[in-house]
Amino acid sequence: MSKSALVALDRDHLIHPVSSFRGHETKGVTILESGHGAFLRDIDGNELLDAFSGLWCVNVGYGQESIVRVAAEQMSRLPYATGYFDFGAEPGIRLAARLVELAPAALRHVYFTLGGSDAVDSAIRYITYYCNALGQPEKKHFITLERGYHGSSALGSGLTALPTFHRKFDVPKENQHYIASPYPYRNPVGNDPQAIIAASVAALRAKVAEIGAERVAAFFCEPVQGSGGVIVPPQGWLKAISRTCRELGILFVADEVITAFGRTGPMFACAAEDVEPDLMTIAKGLTAGYAPMGAVMMSDAVYNVIADSDGGKLVVGHGNTYSAHPVSAAIGLEVLRLYDEGGLLANGIAQGPYFAQGLQRLLEHPLVGDARQRGLLGALELVADKATKQRFDPALKLSERISSAAYRNGIIFRAFDDNILGFAPALCYTAENFDLLFERLRKTLDMVLEQPDQHSRLQ
Ligand SMILES: Cc1ncc(COP(=O)(O)O)c(C=O)c1O
Repeated sequence: MSKSALVALDRDHLIHPVSSFRGHETKGVTILESGHGAFLRDIDGNELLDAFSGLWCVNVGYGQESIVRVAAEQMSRLPYATGYFDFGAEPGIRLAARLVELAPAALRHVYFTLGGSDAVDSAIRYITYYCNALGQPEKKHFITLERGYHGSSALGSGLTALPTFHRKFDVPKENQHYIASPYPYRNPVGNDPQAIIAASVAALRAKVAEIGAERVAAFFCEPVQGSGGVIVPPQGWLKAISRTCRELGILFVADEVITAFGRTGPMFACAAEDVEPDLMTIAKGLTAGYAPMGAVMMSDAVYNVIADSDGGKLVVGHGNTYSAHPVSAAIGLEVLRLYDEGGLLANGIAQGPYFAQGLQRLLEHPLVGDARQRGLLGALELVADKATKQRFDPALKLSERISSAAYRNGIIFRAFDDNILGFAPALCYTAENFDLLFERLRKTLDMVLEQPDQHSRLQ
């Protein structure tokens, strides 16, 4: 089909996620056609370096033939098996067991979903069930971080603390609360790591005291906040906050949808600080975007309360047709093999410092106020004034200009609304890929800086 026909059909019929419907109609779709390694090709034949792994998910890069093979084999053998009525299939069983081997030791049970939002939603539902089963029906309040992202399900969108996901959707609900983000670049307590950790712990304690510990079910957080602007808390923050949850008698849920599977270095960000969450949500890198899949993992302690409620006789009414889908699960097993035996996790860890250096070097650029990363998850924060950290006037639409200049320069990353540029290169990136990324990125920033109205506002 011709490009113009596709653009017209898209405009008429396809609703895009998190988009201005009318804005998208005006702009039109950018059609991607193929991918190989770290590169994408669009319908016009432009080669683009993907510095965002799709949507922080294609951690293994594009065109991994072994994944295609296992998917095709599984499709021809058994494309679908329900998990209902006590049925199952080998890939889902093996993937659950493999995840339990790899994840923090406390997490011994896995419920598979189709992605991250329904993993978070499943966690909320299981926690609700757990509290009721414990005979603590008043424990129904949830606390998350400002700038946190936990998907866009009907309930999870209220745990997300980004205004776009709330406006006109009637969330957050009255049982959903936030505490300040541990944002080193813009933290009222300054950027001393211990002060930031202490402030978060104090904020969590204060929020729990305000609601009443007996009414708080759980605290959810991302080990590094992704969609809120790649906010990297100090080392030790996750451990301190998880320990505080335990002391306060509330469940600690790590939302590792972005941070797992080598994105921040190890297989799970929790592992870096020896953190044992009560529940953990995962997706994205689990299948590296080759098929949809997410999961919520839970500890024995949570599982056993749910399992034993009502004498263990009644069904737990939570399910999805495609839970533990055999093709997605077969892909997940192969993706995990590539991280491990395929050397991708090791390559990601080895390349981390080179990525960090490249970001740090850009601090000398007139537009860049902050550079931050953990593993292969990074960001540049652009500011109008480096001394005061003043943000750019939103009327400048700097993020849009940067995205379009970047595309013209053959690079894709995420330009958030508040002029934070997010990067999530695939774990297969080579040093040459990084050199190209930073060459194209610098050129993009220079181009935007030189745009006439932009330039005058910087004077
Ligand atoms: C931390 C986190 N949780 C949940 C989600 C939602 O996942 P999905 O988009 O697969 O529904 C995301 C997506 O970016 C995420 O970053």
